[in-house]
Amino acid sequence: MKQINQLILLALTAFTFACGGNDDPAPSVDAPLALNPTTIEQTSFEAKWMAVSTAESYQLDVSENLQFTSFVDGYQSKAVTGTSHEVTGLSSNTRYHYRLRAMKGTTVSKNSNLVSITTLLPENTPLKEAANGFYIGTAVQSGRLTGKHDELLRQEFSSITAEYEMKMDKMHPTADTYYWEACDAIVNYAQSNQINIHGHALIWHNSTPDWVENFAGTNDEFELMVKEYIHTVVTRYKGKIRSWDVVNEAILDGSGDYRNSVFYQRMGKDYIAKCFRWAREADPDVLLFYNDYNMASDQNKQDATFTMVDELMAANVPIDGLGFQMHIAYNGPSKETITKAANRIVERGLKAHFSELDIRANPNKDLTRLTEERALALKAKYKEVAGIYSALPAANKYALTIWGMKDDESWLLNFYGHIDWPLLYNADFTAKDAYQGFLEGLAN
Ligand code: G3I
Repeated sequence: MKQINQLILLALTAFTFACGGNDDPAPSVDAPLALNPTTIEQTSFEAKWMAVSTAESYQLDVSENLQFTSFVDGYQSKAVTGTSHEVTGLSSNTRYHYRLRAMKGTTVSKNSNLVSITTLLPENTPLKEAANGFYIGTAVQSGRLTGKHDELLRQEFSSITAEYEMKMDKMHPTADTYYWEACDAIVNYAQSNQINIHGHALIWHNSTPDWVENFAGTNDEFELMVKEYIHTVVTRYKGKIRSWDVVNEAILDGSGDYRNSVFYQRMGKDYIAKCFRWAREADPDVLLFYNDYNMASDQNKQDATFTMVDELMAANVPIDGLGFQMHIAYNGPSKETITKAANRIVERGLKAHFSELDIRANPNKDLTRLTEERALALKAKYKEVAGIYSALPAANKYALTIWGMKDDESWLLNFYGHIDWPLLYNADFTAKDAYQGFLEGLAN
């Protein structure tokens, strides 16, 4: 009987101990709730948090990495009080993270949640310097390389694309003539100002000269003509033009079928592979792109394009990247749709070029002037697209090219026949809200 009583006593003691029934509760203090800062500057931000009623002070950690394996000088367990603290001495355009612990005597709470912030870009940061590891381009014309065009080109952009003067109808207007003057002017301007140049576009059904559309020779003679044209152009600018749109818009909207261009008719579907191979033969180092529009919004066209790209890659055709023209609107396609489409380029290890970005502010013709509301919506869309592109992996970024400098020069005005404000600059070369949004989107 005595043994049973001892066992019962032992069990009760163990149970009491487990419940802590005899000792005083270990002191504890709740973890604080870190809040988003209200002020972010170029080299500082104000950390904020919800007070813990029992806390006497707090410990503040600030780091450039999410694991807090290193700390900003002076911000490892920095003793702070109240519910905010200005964190200073930071770098501009840099991502930081902070967290806190509450203190009561020697008792320390668990870590709070963490909050992430990016400090602002320095004042007047040009677009090309805000871009992280890729070119910021714009479309140019040889007659617009002086004055304010020249000033903004050199200040803001690191790449240029000939809007129309490097297309077959302008470069090779007749079977026995090449016109190099405009192309040379653009290439020389780029070289003189250490600006990248993207060649656009060797083969495009919309810029095929009449003598090619109505080629009198045999299909073999047609193919030889195309080969000689590509070899001639790419060889001329070898080492100067860093990349080419070899084929532009070969896939039809909606159906995703191959466009029945004269190249398709005279050479068959393999014309695409042959053109890429001929361009590679002329320049072993040039980046070779396929370029097309509505690649985010037209799923059939997008699917057909990636099927074609996969076939080209499977056949070891030298293709380095895909150009999404990105002629879009302030109200679509969505961020998710664009991101999903761009990721299909990344999945293939190819470079992505947002090659002709303009964003229609008036797609539904509901405006006769750019309202403040629509200007801010356009700013948000430019920020979104810049953010999507900036977030792509470094290896898959090449350039984000805007299709023109200022609103009144946009091709869209003639194409759609009504007023719109699709670019970054006003007609008087002043930067729009869209410019600021684009710049913010490029920031880390
Ligand atoms: O500047 C000359 C002018 O001096 C001349 O008097 C006049 C009449 O011949 O032509 C003017 O040049 C025209 C140029 O636009 C003016 O900007 C060209 O003929 C005309 O062909 C050219 O149209 C270009 C179009 O492609 C066709 O090449 C547009 O600028 C250009 O924005 C547009 O861009 C295309 C991309 O290459 C491919 N993606 C679609 C995009 C829009 O169509």
